[in-house]
Parts: sequence; C-alpha cells; structure tokens
Amino acid sequence: MTNESLANLMTETRRFAPPAEVTADANVTAAAYEAATADRLAFWATQARRLTWAEEPRQTLDWSNPPFAKWFADGRLNIAYNCVDRHVENGLGDRVAIHFEGEPGDSRSLTYAELQREVSRAAHALTALGVEAGDRVAIYMPMLPETVIAMLACARIGAPHSVVFGAFSPDALATRIQDADARVVITSDGGYRRGAPSPLKPAVDEALTRPGTQNVRSVLVVRRTGQDIPWTEGRDLWWHETLEQHPDRHQPRAFEAEHPLFILYTSGTTGKPKGILHTSGGYLTQVAFTHHAVFDLKPETDVYWCTADVGWVTGHSYIVYGPLANGATQVLYEGTPNTPHNGRWWEIVEKYGVTLLYTAPTAIRTCMKWGDDVPARFDLSSLRVLGSVGEPINPEAWIWYRKHIGGDRTPVVDTWWQTETGAVMISPLPGVTAAKPGAAQVPLPGISATVVDDDGAEVPDGSGGYLTVTEPWPSMLRTIWGDDQRYLDTYWSRFPGKYFAGDGAKKDADGDIWLLGRVDDVMLVSGHNISTTEVESALVSHPRIAEAAVVGATDPQTTQAICAFVILRGGAHQADEEAGLVEELRAHVAKELGPIAKPKRILPVDELPKTRSGKIMRRLLRDVAENRELGDVTTLTDSSVMELIQAKLPGAA
Ligand code: WT7
Repeated sequence: MTNESLANLMTETRRFAPPAEVTADANVTAAAYEAATADRLAFWATQARRLTWAEEPRQTLDWSNPPFAKWFADGRLNIAYNCVDRHVENGLGDRVAIHFEGEPGDSRSLTYAELQREVSRAAHALTALGVEAGDRVAIYMPMLPETVIAMLACARIGAPHSVVFGAFSPDALATRIQDADARVVITSDGGYRRGAPSPLKPAVDEALTRPGTQNVRSVLVVRRTGQDIPWTEGRDLWWHETLEQHPDRHQPRAFEAEHPLFILYTSGTTGKPKGILHTSGGYLTQVAFTHHAVFDLKPETDVYWCTADVGWVTGHSYIVYGPLANGATQVLYEGTPNTPHNGRWWEIVEKYGVTLLYTAPTAIRTCMKWGDDVPARFDLSSLRVLGSVGEPINPEAWIWYRKHIGGDRTPVVDTWWQTETGAVMISPLPGVTAAKPGAAQVPLPGISATVVDDDGAEVPDGSGGYLTVTEPWPSMLRTIWGDDQRYLDTYWSRFPGKYFAGDGAKKDADGDIWLLGRVDDVMLVSGHNISTTEVESALVSHPRIAEAAVVGATDPQTTQAICAFVILRGGAHQADEEAGLVEELRAHVAKELGPIAKPKRILPVDELPKTRSGKIMRRLLRDVAENRELGDVTTLTDSSVMELIQAKLPGAA
C-alpha cells in the first residue's frame, strides 16, 4: 500500500481527556505502560499471577519453534476453577455472576455459588457420557446461562468446546462438527427471537444426518421454550434430567497451561472456515488482564454487560472467560435490541444499573437511526465506561455513543482485536488515554504492534500500511485446528517474523493507530489507496446519513471507482430530492477528505447486507456495483436485502 494518500485523509481532531475521577482510581495508570515496555515478559509473568495455579509457572514464553508459541508451559491450572470455584472459596459465593434477562421478560440471577453447583453437575454429566480430556464438544445454543455453564463444564474436564453461533445453518453446524470431530452436541429446544420461540434442535438433527458427523454419540438438550421437537431415543437427553442425576460437587483437575481450551471457527473471505485454536493459561491471563484494564473493572461494584453473542469470540473472551475470571457481575441478554421496543437495551441498563457496556459499531449506528429520543427516556446515569468492538467505529458514531449513551461524560474505548488474537490488543485505557473518536490508538501494555509498509518496514508517523503484531502475546491463537501449514501461510508468511492481521492501518502524527478495515477493503483510485472506512466515516458525518457502505468498483479510467450505498435518516424521500442530496453528499466527501475520495456513485438504499456478526458484506455490494451475479449469500442475516438493493439500481425492472 502506498502512503501519501492516507496521510491527509483523516480529519478528526476532537480529543477527550480521561475524566479526573476515572484517572484518580484507575486500575491501570500511565506508569504501567512504562513498566510493561521495559520488560514485556516480566509484565506477563506478573499478570499470570491474577490466576490461581495448581502449579505456578516458572517459564513465561517458549518461542523456540516460532510461530508456535508456548506460554507458561510448565504451569498447571483448571480454567473453570479460576472462573468459578476460587471466588466461592474467597467468600464471594453470594455475588451474582449472571443476571439473565430473557427476551420475553423472564429473568433470573445466578450467584457464583449456584454457578459452581451447575458447572459441577454438568462436568459430571459430560464425563458420564464418555467425554474425556481432549475430546471435542460442540455447543449450539441461544444466549442462556446454560450456554456459559456448558462451556465451563467442558473447560473443567479439559474437553475443548467448539461453540457454533445459534443462527448458523445445519450445514454450517455440520461442517464444524466434522472438522473438530465432536463427540457430543449441547443445544436447546429453541430460544426467543423477535418475540417468538424459534426452534434450534431440528437444525442439530439435520446436521447429524450429514456424513462425517457419526461420532456424535449424545445430544444434550436444554429446555428453554418448551416447544415440540423431534427426539432420537438413545442419543438425545434432556439437560435438566441428566444434570439432576449428578452431585453438585466436582473435583477440578489441573491441566497444562497449553491444554486446548476451545476451537472457534472464523469464516474469512475465502476458503473453508478456519478452526482457531486457543489454549488455557496464556489465554486466561490476557483476557483477565484486558477485561480488568480496558473496562477498569471494579468487581465489587460494577455491573458489566457485553451485548455480543457467546457464539463469537467477543462472547468467549468478554462474557465467559475474562469477566468470570475477574469475579465480575454481568448481564446476559437473550434477545434482540428492539423486542418488544427500540429502547429494550436502555431499559436493561436502567434495570440492572449497568456500569460498563461493550457493544459494536453496527449496533450503535442502528440506535442512532432509531433516534436520540429513545435512550433519552431511560436513566443511563449508572454507565461509566463504554466499549466498542468489531469494526472501525466512525467518529460520528463514537461521538453519538458518548453523548447519548454516556451522558457526555464516560470514556469510550475502541478495542481492536480478532478471533485469532483471543483478547484485546489495541485500545485506549479509560484512565490514561486522551481518546480520539474513531481510533483504537495504542497497543495495550505487554503488546507490540505497529504499522508496516509493503516490505515490512515500520512506517513513519503520519503514514499508512498494514497492521502487524511484532512479538508473540499470551492469548494468541496456537494454530488452525488440524492445519499448521494454513496457520503459517495465513498469518506468518506475508511479513516474516511478524503476525499479519489482514487489516489496513495508519499511524497519525502522534503515532496513534487508526484501523482502516480489512486490506481487501482498500480501494485503488487513480493510483491512490483510499480506505472504505474513511469514506464511510465522511458520509456518516453528514446529518442525512444513518449508515454507509463503500466499495471500489472496477473502472476503466481510474482502476477502481468509489461506489457508496447509503441509508438516509428519516425514511421515505422523493427521487428529485434524492438527486440533489446525492450531489450534496459527493461535495461533502470531497470537502472532508479531498476530491480524490469523492464517490463516483451514491445509491440510497433501505438496508445494507450484513453478516450475522454485523459486518457489512462489501463483496456482495461490489458484485452489485460491477453488475455481476451475486456470490455466496448464505452468511447474510437476511438475504432478501440484496434483492431490495438490486431493485434500486438504475435500469432494474
Ligand atoms: C476483525 C476481526 C474482535 C472481536 C470481534 C471481531 C475488525 C475488530 C475493531 C476495531 C477496527 C476492528 C478488524 C479485525 N475489528 N475490532 N476496534 N477497530 N476494526 O472478531 O470476527 O475475528 O474480526 O474485525 O478488521 O481484523 P473477528
């Protein structure tokens, strides 16, 4: 990637110093950065002491066979013991671990002592089903306390779990069961979605008819909705009936720090899904540290809520392992943000007095679209830190989040990381960093990351290139399940000795890092590299735009031409008004970013194609912009969106 064009594109200059009261009492101070830079490995060795080890590690990092890392290799621990039992032993058994809020309005709270009993029964149950340490268990569930219990029960007996997002198809589930060769599937009859029970178990039955799934001996079924479901005698078992038969005390066994904890599949842009493998001691060390540092967690008083699904890595690291290792109290919500009304999330914040909130830019932009008056109806004054994850957050969305959710007072932390990194890598710290809207800014203590050019050389401040991680980190993926070569090729071959994240990035004049989206999403326009994210942010900074997706379409004159799909605020609009507005928007982008970034086409649409994790599928929009037949649409939340967009095209019937 060349640099000149990126250097002057970012125009954001607003700064938000950490509030004095946060700084005064912050978990991590500026001095901690200094200490960590001085001796990175000593820093992580200290952080590992957050955990309770059956055998304390004496080694920190074994990098003798790069890029296959071993962290704390001679230490032994039990992950579930660290997330549950030790808190009970420390007298915190009555602390609420999970406030569960069902979509229909039912709720229940589980203390750490209750969690310990449930996890113990479930661990016995899995063992009784023949699951041994090292065997894989697939978990295909809605957002329920049992989902967390199932994961912890697997961890407790050393059986790596593979959680498959509950909205994935039977085929996607079957592929993942095959690849991991799972022995047991844990699921539920269904869950509540948009006000109605939605079945889940039939998808498991269908997946298990596919070849390569025959090693699944048992299916444990949690009863959530009570709906009628098909049943295979001898294979299917009710969760509650099975757990009842087992004692609520279970002796945890210690495993090596490098014992596999879970496999989580990421789809990526091409090829079959990659089974990202995470292990135990290093992973738990980094998720616990980052959750403590990035959210400034005070477990005695905070109520934390991460709105992600447990089926994504965000749910693994920042619903299950990080918060529970830290003894936090958190909210777990089953449903959608607008059931039964657009203010449901804010109602939940008010009800539980949520203090720390972690969500995604796509959700924030949706809330912006629903209007400022919706959150204004609720008391959100308990909130003290807001987090964002999943994609670059547009400065306008960042500002809206801070103002309308954070009462113009809370720090906002934009956290960059990936399924592969396991835990947050780059983020402002609430008590330390003067925040810049739209930038993840600084590698966390103990993390070495930078931006490099095509040759792998670090770029000077003010220049753009590729994000790389230059030193191994405790929660790094250890490999791709069953495919070491693909691990090497995908992450370690582009820049020898450095981890290639696949994201474009820029260092600003202060050396702070701005993420610019996947490198596949950088456009080449008349010899200039322009990031889709920056053009989208410029569009969203216009008052009439709620959301924007930008792609580069092949163009005979300019190599690629910028083509924008936008959702207008305020609903319906006349064609002539649209024409005027499109011109105004093009001029607006030219003014914000320079004439080179002016979109050639701007197309108002009603919806944008998104994956179930909320990422815009630019690949499909590129197909539309280049008048091609659409590629694979199976991971879209709603495939009819593409028909609506195509119908909007000039010349469409
Ligand atoms: C990709 C990883 C990490 C949990 C959820 C996504 C993008 C993530 C940010 C951020 C800019 C971000 C990157 C990354 N991304 N967080 N704060 N700023 N981009 O996990 O599905 O593995 O996706 O999400 O492009 O590579 P994932």
